[in-house]
Amino acid sequence: MHAWLCENPVGVDALQWKEIPTPQPKASEVLIEIKAASLNFPDLLIVQNKYQMKPALPFVPGSEYAGVVAAVGEGVTHLKVGQSVACLSGTGGFGTHTIAPAALCMPLPPGFPHVDAAAFIMIYATSHHALVDRGQLKAGETVLVLGAAGGVGTAAIQIAKTLGARVIAAASTDEKCELCKSIGADATINYTKESLRDAIKAATDGKGPDVIYDSVGGDFAEPAFRSIAWRGRYLVVGFASGPIPSLPLNLTLLKGASLVGVFWGDFARREPKANAAMMAELAGWYAQGKIKPVIDSTMPMSELKAAYAHMGSRGVKGKLVMVN
Ligand SMILES: NC(=O)c1ccc[n+]([C@@H]2O[C@H](COP(=O)([O-])OP(=O)(O)OC[C@H]3O[C@@H](n4cnc5c(N)ncnc54)[C@H](OP(=O)(O)O)[C@@H]3O)[C@@H](O)[C@H]2O)c1
Repeated sequence: MHAWLCENPVGVDALQWKEIPTPQPKASEVLIEIKAASLNFPDLLIVQNKYQMKPALPFVPGSEYAGVVAAVGEGVTHLKVGQSVACLSGTGGFGTHTIAPAALCMPLPPGFPHVDAAAFIMIYATSHHALVDRGQLKAGETVLVLGAAGGVGTAAIQIAKTLGARVIAAASTDEKCELCKSIGADATINYTKESLRDAIKAATDGKGPDVIYDSVGGDFAEPAFRSIAWRGRYLVVGFASGPIPSLPLNLTLLKGASLVGVFWGDFARREPKANAAMMAELAGWYAQGKIKPVIDSTMPMSELKAAYAHMGSRGVKGKLVMVN
């Protein structure tokens, strides 16, 4: 098998495409022949030694992937050789094969392409947990999505529309705003051209959004929070712009509003039954055509370094997927 090996976590340049022996699955594991693997934000941090999880060296990056089960270890009864699965295991995806814990593999129903499946779990699980569980978003409410053309942002738009909410999508270019409209956003804000506060006021008749979905952080958090509706819920999802913002706490009091943290990974570990129910609902929505990953482009696995560079340029709309 071949894989991108991280022997020294000093960045993308140090990754090397190498031939290594194909491992055999131990008990409760499966060997997966990888067909597609998507890029997520932590895939960059992990090869720079900046992610909270620090795998033993050498490791193969690639947190999320889909493929075909090539061998099963002892005790694996719910998966068969030849079956298509998606998996989010943190590492292992950027190669031709990987070993995965069987418990983390999501069997794919017929008609679920590997490219969509490789770009599914992280973004939809995060945005569903954020909007439904943490945000209590209701039909008829308005949600503002910051960084709306990114991975979790596009998922948030589709899920909010599925729930019957009105969506205002905010992004940094007109092109990204157009993409957001094409997947269901009711209104858009280009926050590099317009004052965020003025634009939110105009888009909500001065009332403000009931829910704000923030995966960007930085300078937008305070003006966005100042614009939130009475009893609003501000979802802290991520800090893609870098800086972690601070907020004066009196702002929560003035609006009777809540600041709500979202950590899907720990939710899945701590509340596995609730997570499984959520994943089943998402798979159903996919089958009904209510949600579908926005794929910016697919690239051959051998071009991983170029894909990382594209992701770093802030130019990606939706998800980048590497294919074998
Ligand atoms: N809490 C959780 O459970 C959870 C789960 C998954 C992901 N996350 C976090 O959510 C964030 C977004 O993840 P994602 O996969 O959606 O990432 P993504 O696809 O790269 O999207 C991030 C968006 O952030 C915006 N952005 C603003 N400043 C940026 C900058 N300096 N560099 C890059 N992007 C910038 C970009 O939109 P514009 O250009 O339109 O501003 C971009 O589309 C990450 O911080 C990630 O770690 C959290």
